[in-house]
Amino acid sequence: MSETVQEKASFLVVANRLPVDRVTSEDGTESWRSSPGGLVTALEPVMQSRGGAWIGWPGAPDERVEPFHHDGYDIIPVPLSSQDVERFYEGFSNATLWPLFHDCIAEPVFHREWWDAFREVNQRFARVAAERAEQGATVWIQDYQLHLVPQMLREMRPDLRIGFFLHIPFPPPELFTRMPWRKELIEGVLGADLIGFQFPGCVSNFLRLARRLPDVEGARGRVHMPDGRMVVVKAFPISIDAVGMRNLANSPQVLAEAQKLRQELGDPSTILFGVDRLDYSKGLRNRVRAIGELFESRDLDPEQVVFLQLATPSRERVKEYRMLRNDIDLLVGRINSQSTSLARSPIAYRYTSVPRETLAAMYQIADLMIVTPLRDGMNLVAKEYVACRSRNDSALVLSEFAGAALELRQAYMVNPYDIDGMKASILQALHESPRVKARKMRAMRKQVFDHDINVWADSFLTELESN
Ligand code: ADP
Ligand code: G6P
Repeated sequence: MSETVQEKASFLVVANRLPVDRVTSEDGTESWRSSPGGLVTALEPVMQSRGGAWIGWPGAPDERVEPFHHDGYDIIPVPLSSQDVERFYEGFSNATLWPLFHDCIAEPVFHREWWDAFREVNQRFARVAAERAEQGATVWIQDYQLHLVPQMLREMRPDLRIGFFLHIPFPPPELFTRMPWRKELIEGVLGADLIGFQFPGCVSNFLRLARRLPDVEGARGRVHMPDGRMVVVKAFPISIDAVGMRNLANSPQVLAEAQKLRQELGDPSTILFGVDRLDYSKGLRNRVRAIGELFESRDLDPEQVVFLQLATPSRERVKEYRMLRNDIDLLVGRINSQSTSLARSPIAYRYTSVPRETLAAMYQIADLMIVTPLRDGMNLVAKEYVACRSRNDSALVLSEFAGAALELRQAYMVNPYDIDGMKASILQALHESPRVKARKMRAMRKQVFDHDINVWADSFLTELESN
């Protein structure tokens, strides 16, 4: 494969974020680090095997970066000014669409100037995609930040095959119709030939809304547009590079790191583990409360058990995220300060992201994985944990409101709003017989390995290229 950047590509991914972020340290040195979130985790291996171009923002305001070649594909940066970051990214994308699409767990904020910026930035992404796509190319647009790009791009380049995949849930019409620009958002995404959602409920929510547009008919996963086009709407549950994850977790380097980590944690007999972006959709407040109460009541013995929780910094300038960070600091501090042991705290909490190797080592030492989002499109953490567990002696506690719950049916399911129910499920999972645990873990592992990221990408792209 050529190491120089190609003028045009026959396969393009367009996402708000590039897979790597440029970071400038205080002394002015610049470096690249992996971008946060499940979108990048899922699409990186797809691009590494298919090649092509990835169009996206380098992660900091006012960054001007030339296109470059990376890991077998081209990176085409799209700059955002500080005002774009404030209005398009932190504003409309993450304080309007994100809460609205996550069942309004936080109150969505509507501002007209944010909407104007959203439209303008979506135009910019569409223009770059139009310039970089070969005649008849396949362009795969990702996620809610670029909801308007499919129609904008179609107007510029009707020759392209355009796919759109939403990584987060699509809400019921009862919530979506609060959106002042609801018609524009639905029409914008209908510019695609194929629209993919994480699970079937999102497909029916979307079709109910599409049918309300004038002269549009939609049923059985197909939308007939007034201009004669047909748009296919279907569920494609996303996944992970399961083999890559398992191999990483079983590499000598990771196994050695796992041993070291267990020692650093004081060699407890049981390790509970959670890892999330610090996002209110992840249900961290209730998770920490439930586990705190179990320590307090001594159902979990702080001399024997440690709860390790990692939280990746995310969207730190958005108000709800700042409040969440303070709340978790307070909750964890309160629980740890009540512990009688001076040697060790019951909760080991770190606000940081870690290298993939360290994360794999943490999955290796976790006896119980706790994944309790209030709402989540899929949740790849749950699948990563399952893929890493070659031994069958562990368990997964999983929220019924994560897309992953439709596939990992053998997990210990919880309603994350029900703190007592969550406590009961954690204890049940910990005290389960080895035979039952092994059966559950084997079944979940088969599901993840049979439906990995290649199956997901192949099924989406085959459908897109065949209709
Ligand atoms: P989301 O996309 O909402 O962040 P997912 O669970 O689908 O949620 O994906 C999160 C991805 O980010 C996973 O691949 C996970 O391994 C990774 N991740 C989450 N927290 C950390 C962390 N602290 N350090 C490194 N990787 C992390
Ligand atoms: C989720 C979203 C992605 C987003 C990621 C990280 O996975 O679906 O679109 O990139 O979170 O969020 P950020 O705001 O840092 O890009």
